[in-house]
Amino acid sequence: MDSGPATQTEPAASITGAGTTIVVCISCRDASGSDAHPRAGERLAEDTRRAAAGQPVEVRTVECLGNCKRRLSASILHDGAWSYVFGDLAEDSGADLVAGASLLATAEDGKIPWRGRPDSLRRGLVARIPPLMPLKDQS
Ligand code: FES
Repeated sequence: MDSGPATQTEPAASITGAGTTIVVCISCRDASGSDAHPRAGERLAEDTRRAAAGQPVEVRTVECLGNCKRRLSASILHDGAWSYVFGDLAEDSGADLVAGASLLATAEDGKIPWRGRPDSLRRGLVARIPPLMPLKDQS
């Protein structure tokens, strides 16, 4: 399975930060639970790559994000920002993931703002995890 970064050309105005990565689980099944390939997760990864084309965001894939009960799953990571895990996504949620990555990359507080966040990333939020360095500074 190809897990390389999305094609990157001119940075789009919608994403200004570097170091933004969307990680899509390619093992997630659709509602039928079928093992047939391509799996729903693979289709979501392809949709996300299409949506990310030309944007300074990488799309990576993994075989499981440990969120299997919430079906189609992905995470959004950005250097120095909070990390997000989402579930209950659809095969065509790629544009939403890229929009979320854009919001995270430009957020001054390192969090995806609620305002403007795609509905799928509101309903599908599983967890957000703080960046490590500020936590280390607290100890
Ligand atoms: S198989 Fe996709 S999160 Fe586990």
